[in-house]
Amino acid sequence: MLKSHNCGELNRGHKEYIVTLAGWVDRRRDHGGLIFIDLRDRSGIAQVVFNPETSRECHELASQLRNEYVVMIKGRVSLRPEGTENLKIATGEIEILADTVKILNTSKTTPFYINEDIEIDENLRLKYRYLDIRRDRMKNNIILRHRVVKMMRDYMDSKGFIEIETPILIKRTPEGARDYLVPSRVYPGKFYALPQSPQQLKQLLMVAGMEKYYQIAKCFRDEDTRADRQPEFTQLDIEMSFAEEEDVIGLLEDLFTKIMETIKPDKKIIKPFPRITYSDAMERYGSDKPDIRFGMEIKDLTDLLARSEFAVFSSTVAQGGKVKGICAPGCAGFTRTQINELNEMAKGFGAKGLVTILLDPSVKSLDDLGIDNVKSQIVKFLTIEQVKEMAVRLGSNTGDMLLIVAGDDETVSSTLGRLRSEMGRRLELADPNLFAYCFIVNFPLFSWDNKINRWESMHHPFTAPKEKDMAILDTNPAGVYGQHYDMVLNGYEIGGGSIRIYNSDLQRKVFKIMGYTDESVDQLFGHLLEAFSYGAPPHGGVAVGIDRILMLLTGESTIREVIPFPKNQNAFDLCFGAPATVSEEDLAELHISLKEQ
Ligand code: AMO
Repeated sequence: MLKSHNCGELNRGHKEYIVTLAGWVDRRRDHGGLIFIDLRDRSGIAQVVFNPETSRECHELASQLRNEYVVMIKGRVSLRPEGTENLKIATGEIEILADTVKILNTSKTTPFYINEDIEIDENLRLKYRYLDIRRDRMKNNIILRHRVVKMMRDYMDSKGFIEIETPILIKRTPEGARDYLVPSRVYPGKFYALPQSPQQLKQLLMVAGMEKYYQIAKCFRDEDTRADRQPEFTQLDIEMSFAEEEDVIGLLEDLFTKIMETIKPDKKIIKPFPRITYSDAMERYGSDKPDIRFGMEIKDLTDLLARSEFAVFSSTVAQGGKVKGICAPGCAGFTRTQINELNEMAKGFGAKGLVTILLDPSVKSLDDLGIDNVKSQIVKFLTIEQVKEMAVRLGSNTGDMLLIVAGDDETVSSTLGRLRSEMGRRLELADPNLFAYCFIVNFPLFSWDNKINRWESMHHPFTAPKEKDMAILDTNPAGVYGQHYDMVLNGYEIGGGSIRIYNSDLQRKVFKIMGYTDESVDQLFGHLLEAFSYGAPPHGGVAVGIDRILMLLTGESTIREVIPFPKNQNAFDLCFGAPATVSEEDLAELHISLKEQ
């Protein structure tokens, strides 16, 4: 090795050691006679001093150093003179008095500072990701990612799971998202697909008798990119034979408790992780991935407003719709502009509009409230009794703002759910020291897709129905619940899984309910159904999004910050410039000709 020690590991215990260090010039300070270099490697920074009296030649070379030059130095570790220590860095008590320096490589001026923690345009960071990773933020995120993944591997190993790789070139089968396709050179006109997840492969491994499988698996989905979505991402993918819902949920709870205790010992978690049914989550939070760090729960006001003079409310109720609301504490001072903004937001979420009711903060209590103390677009249609009843139901007091939406149940819930998240964020209601994990359980097996007019699976078509609902599968698909569970953390879905169907007749029946013909099932899923006919064991599993959990552990707001080489918001790889055109010859070899754009 060109180095005897790492920069960041040196401390006063190394006094008088002769060390050789190699790394990058983080900064150089020329103090007349003495030249100081902050030398950086992955482990940290060490201060190196060049004194012309120790070596004139070495001092001369040091004066040529610039930021990001790669250098090797040799010298003696010495305690810094009293009063010059820097207690902010681990090596701040020592310095290296250099007598040798070798420039291993030079560097152009970098497009952004490596040594300063300032905001830099993300596209520039992504183009020069190899420089961005030299900076502490990305470096630390990548190291944390390594630690978390290692913990996952060690834990799974300790529980008897074995890691098995599965192929990346597989067959296109509908699983929810759009597939990435790879043309075959050998089979003209045919395509491989990149796996959206190793779902069917891990099920085949259960048929193969592997019993307990896991994998740190790359998944590919051609979906629109979002803060918590990338075209390619990584899962901790798990499958176990002879397992029931509780076994998988218990395993996850144990693993994530251990991860939190090790990685975030100063943060709180709620133990046991709360279980919330899907219908409860939708009812109370308007979301199947609720942030339960704060209340602001949605309450049904339909009965109170059925005979409202405000026609939107009464006619919605008459048509079987719902009127629901939330309370934004202390927001009675919201301005017209702020309220208009919320209204626009509600419309963007699909609602026809938003009614706000502001309760005068100067009035002591609800009892003293008169209609003159109420500000609302619809105040002339309200009685003070109605306002008070709504306020009591929503747990509001004077000084608060009520947000009310009317419409079909689904739109009302999801709009209020999203307004709840927005207001929770603005009012900083979530305790930043709490990591609120929870499991969402009892999902319906199917949801009706209005666009294609057929049943879609809530999770994926391999999820087993609850035993108790088996009898109504043919007659009432809407009433069937699935053995499906999601793990949610602070408002993000970080994992999802289920107990699977392992019987080919039942699997065929589920596909049939979803509108597949027998021929299309054979063509798309024949391999799986065939496998189920050779003694498939009962099995189930889960997959956890590693990028999402890392985003939350690091406190970042996008998963791009925890992925070394992510695509940007437009699914473009700025570092390589991909996707890119390829030559006519390459295309010809793949039997592809492009249409004029
Ligand atoms: P699911 O589709 O719910 O389940 O995915 C599991 C978890 O993967 C993460 N995730 C993503 N992360 C980043 N970018 C994306 N585009 C993305 N899509 C999903 C989420 C999600 O909770 N095969 C099943 C699992 C199973 O049933 O065992 C599956 O993939 O954190």
